[in-house]
Amino acid sequence: MSMLNDIDHVLVSEESIKEINKKLGEQITKDYAGKKLLLVSILKGAVVFLADLMREIKIHCNIDFMVVSSYGAGTKTSGVVKIIKDLDLNLEGYDVLIVEDILDSGLTLSYIVDILKGRNPNSVRICTFLDKPERRISDIKADYCGAVVPDEFVVGYGLDYDEKYRNLPFVGVLKPEVYN
Ligand code: IMP
Ligand code: MG
Repeated sequence: MSMLNDIDHVLVSEESIKEINKKLGEQITKDYAGKKLLLVSILKGAVVFLADLMREIKIHCNIDFMVVSSYGAGTKTSGVVKIIKDLDLNLEGYDVLIVEDILDSGLTLSYIVDILKGRNPNSVRICTFLDKPERRISDIKADYCGAVVPDEFVVGYGLDYDEKYRNLPFVGVLKPEVYN
């Protein structure tokens, strides 16, 4: 069976994704002119977004990666965030922009923001591709957001269900029977 047969409906199309990245890139290019921009990406989900977004940014920027885990094979947050791989760079003097795939409960990001702020960067802001505000637990807001999505579990464009569907070029919702 093809991966596409598991999709119930598309939420963010390839075409919209392109437009979203163009817009975000333009805004970030303006806002960070003259600054020392560092894009910090949380693996693995944000890697697809980062790859597209950084090519829409027209000023110099560095990239660095972090691996954390907050989800297992299921669709609900565990509330536990663990750093599995830390950044390589020292953050002093950098204007850090965290590039995330989705802001859900916010537990993961609020934890990461606190850690990064403690390392004396110039600033720390958040750019998320998707925002699911209905599910927020932490008091955290994205400075840049690609699209707001309803409270449904989504896959594609980097986002997984049980490590699958990351390579879908759009964001979609799985058919209910896929979970069973
Ligand atoms: P949070 O800590 O609840 O905000 O969760 C953040 C992480 O959970 C994201 O970076 C994703 O990896 C994962 N996640 C949250 N919602 C979804 C979803 O709808 N689909 C796939 N992964 C999700
Ligand atoms: Mg995940």
